[in-house]
Amino acid sequence: MCGIVGYIGNKEAFPILIKGLRRLEYRGYDSAGVALINDNGDLNVFKTKGKVDNLVEYCSDKNVTGNIGIAHTRWATHGEPSSLNAHPHYSQSKNLAIIHNGIIENYSQLRSRLQAKGISFVSDTDTEVLVQLIEFIQEEKNIDLLTAVQLALNEVIGAYAIAILDHRNPDTIIAARNQSPLVVGIGDDEYFLGSDASPIVEYTDKVVYLEDGNIAVIKRHDDLKVVNIQNRKLYPEIQTIDINLGQIEKGGYPHFMLKEIFEQPDCITNCMRGRVNIDTDNVVLSAVIDYKKQLLQAKRFVIVACGTSWHAGLIGKQMIESFCRIPVEVEYASEFRYRNPVICKDDVVIAISQSGETADTLAAVKLAKRHGAFIYGICNAIGSSIPRATDTGSYIHVGPEIGVASTKAFTGQVSVLTMLALALAKERGTISSADYLKIVEELHQIPNKMKELLKLNKRIADLSRTFTYARDFLFLGRGYNYPVALEGALKLKEISYIHAEGYPAAEMKHGPIALIDSDMPVVVIATHNAMYDKVLSNIQEVKARKGKVIAIVSKGDETISRIADEVIEMPATIECLEPLLATIPLQLLAYHIAVCRGKDVDQPRNLAKSVTVE
Ligand code: AGP
Ligand code: GLU
Repeated sequence: MCGIVGYIGNKEAFPILIKGLRRLEYRGYDSAGVALINDNGDLNVFKTKGKVDNLVEYCSDKNVTGNIGIAHTRWATHGEPSSLNAHPHYSQSKNLAIIHNGIIENYSQLRSRLQAKGISFVSDTDTEVLVQLIEFIQEEKNIDLLTAVQLALNEVIGAYAIAILDHRNPDTIIAARNQSPLVVGIGDDEYFLGSDASPIVEYTDKVVYLEDGNIAVIKRHDDLKVVNIQNRKLYPEIQTIDINLGQIEKGGYPHFMLKEIFEQPDCITNCMRGRVNIDTDNVVLSAVIDYKKQLLQAKRFVIVACGTSWHAGLIGKQMIESFCRIPVEVEYASEFRYRNPVICKDDVVIAISQSGETADTLAAVKLAKRHGAFIYGICNAIGSSIPRATDTGSYIHVGPEIGVASTKAFTGQVSVLTMLALALAKERGTISSADYLKIVEELHQIPNKMKELLKLNKRIADLSRTFTYARDFLFLGRGYNYPVALEGALKLKEISYIHAEGYPAAEMKHGPIALIDSDMPVVVIATHNAMYDKVLSNIQEVKARKGKVIAIVSKGDETISRIADEVIEMPATIECLEPLLATIPLQLLAYHIAVCRGKDVDQPRNLAKSVTVE
């Protein structure tokens, strides 16, 4: 993970690169750097530890002129976050500079080989090996840069999106991709490069998404040339993107996370637009129409995902099993890909990923594909790697999610899974029309109920102050709300750095109950559903040990209000849709606790938005 930006054209590159880095900072923020070729043909690298702001400050007294440049914001995999390990990296002669997103797995063999040939390294990164290798091949064989890049990439094992500058060719950027994303923006006599389209949208809506194995030669006053490692010319499709600037800016909110929490009613409306038709009481997903046969003949569904997307998968499992009567397994993509799983031809594998770039999920998709399974993607980022690797799928259409902690993507994923379960169940005849209608109509009400719930923001901000200095938190839920408990705990951990565990409420007595004392806040999702009485007993068990209970209850609940220390009332809905509402107060709770603790909500330490490395 990390962000890559590039520019070549007639404008000053530095401001464009810096703006682009800020848009990509969600991908990593251990260090930032830029390489520019100025009018004298000098290739200058400026880089520093920390965020893009530090780089801007560092460059304030430097000569950053030039209308060709590349820039990088890093999430360290090899070598600690430091100025030395920051990208761009020079080659030994300083003729070349490279930026890289990914991991070069055989870097240590390559490094030893190059060291034996007298090349010395200045950083601990895997990336530096790549630029040194390219230069070594170029000099040894006396060949042009493109050929040297092709030969070097042939020797490399691993994932990369790279961009290279050579001051002897001040009119060209060479970029290549394998398993890490890279987009080329085509402007008016200018080109842009980005890990995603966000640094590009301001200037052009014409983009080329590079594929694995593509090498782009981006040359001033020339057409974009794309070749593969064997130098075969390729003709990638130029696509038009429709992200507007407002979608990737904060719009008056102090943080992207809060903006994205508040966007949820609109996001879910967008996600259901044209899919949930309330006039005909019908749910239509084009993928289910187009691939009916493959989906209906499935003997089993396997959901693969990571983090929050995995939590959405757990909710999807309950709905698909309950409405469609098909077994569903939910797997961490990182485990699935390495454990020799049983995958059959009549399996449908559902890959859930906000970014569409998560390396483990992408690898799980490729593995399942090799075994002949039918692959269905549920993603947010349009045109990203996972949707392109799947047989079909449904976008969640919630717009760009910038805050590292996923919020609106989760509710978007759960909404799509609900629609998928309903559409399939109807086709299979496994749901009664009364149940189907009830859920469709209630689904349509969800955005309004979300709006009602968001009015509690102030109340949740107030109550979060009481719990700011808690050391641990427990989140409990049952049935559909068990994954909500997991998600609430993950949100809190990620952004406030408070240790939190999500548990099925009844499982608490098998261990975690030992942790409960008067200092332990326990968040319980205790809505008025089939499990109500059971959860009520679980709350009593916590209170008997003096735990502090924060209960999410259905509006008007009096019983739990009397026992719990704090209650948050949520509008009533049917059980399977409760996660779409119950998650929101937990997102707000985590947000406000993190703000009270003075943490960096949008860019929490050690994390990055898309995990494009293993
Ligand atoms: C969520 O808040 C996390 N930052 C993280 O768990 C995330 O959900 C996970 O990395 C998966 O990402 P994806 O949906 O883009 O594949
Ligand atoms: N492996 C490279 C490094 O550690 C790049 C990591 C990234 O993708 O940010 O510097």
